[in-house]
Amino acid sequence: MGGEEPVPPGIDITKPNIARVYDAFLDGKDNFAADRAVVELTLQIVPDAAAGAKANRAFLRRVVRYLAGQAGIGQFLDIGSGLPSKGNVHEIAHELSPAARVTYIDSDPVVLRHAQALLADAPTVRVVTADVRRPAEILGSAEVRELIDFGRPVGMLMLAILHHIREEDDPAGIVARFREAAAPGSYLAISSFRMPGPEHPQDAARTLEVQELFNAKLGTGLWREHEEILQWFGDWELLGPGLVPLPEWRPDSTGRATRDSTYYGFVGGVARKP
Ligand SMILES: C[S@@+](CC[C@H](N)C(=O)[O-])C[C@H]1O[C@@H](n2cnc3c(N)ncnc32)[C@H](O)[C@@H]1O
Repeated sequence: MGGEEPVPPGIDITKPNIARVYDAFLDGKDNFAADRAVVELTLQIVPDAAAGAKANRAFLRRVVRYLAGQAGIGQFLDIGSGLPSKGNVHEIAHELSPAARVTYIDSDPVVLRHAQALLADAPTVRVVTADVRRPAEILGSAEVRELIDFGRPVGMLMLAILHHIREEDDPAGIVARFREAAAPGSYLAISSFRMPGPEHPQDAARTLEVQELFNAKLGTGLWREHEEILQWFGDWELLGPGLVPLPEWRPDSTGRATRDSTYYGFVGGVARKP
């Protein structure tokens, strides 16, 4: 496990961190004891919590396949990309569109370190350390613009990141800046924690407990209302089936998805700029 790896300089492994906790939920190896402790505590409240992280990766795969294939998107900006995991955006995109360019953005320097090793020989892929709360810096960055041409349609991915942005940091305003900068024909994919409605009282109660735990341990994690998340797409055309529980977004098979405890608490959707 990650605890046996040499600790990179400047990284405090005694404190859990979003990217590594998520990695631990995905059975990755780039995490430490403090991160795994948060996973353990979460599992005490929601024993099948890892299903949510896995459903999010499956959503990512289906979205990127759709964008690189049917939608003909040749450049991707993956904001809050996380640690490299099975089925990274560039790997999925390149299966369908070998020349696709991908720029990963994450504020966590550990992501850069891991990704650089993976991408040493990938000229069409970049990793940039930047904070989504400063969209102007990202949009104006020479490093970002090396691969991403905002004059042409771009696939913008904001998966499992906006629920880590607090209200005072204006998530709606941040997403709006990215939407404004994108050319017509661009796509925006979002996945986010969502507060389950009163029709699922048990899920809602457990969600509140996990929200409290995440905020105590990670200082972040917000399950927002459906309408709030929907507004992040602005006036873009929301593709069918809309903003839905992750397994319901264009599933690969016709089989009915298992309704695990995270099912109603994690949604995703994709929209296109007219
Ligand atoms: C749960 S992971 C999601 C990874 C990937 N997008 C996915 O859906 O599989 C969230 C990522 O957002 C990053 N993140 C959190 N706050 C951020 C910020 N303000 N700016 C940029 N990245 C941020 C974290 O470092 C973490 O890697």
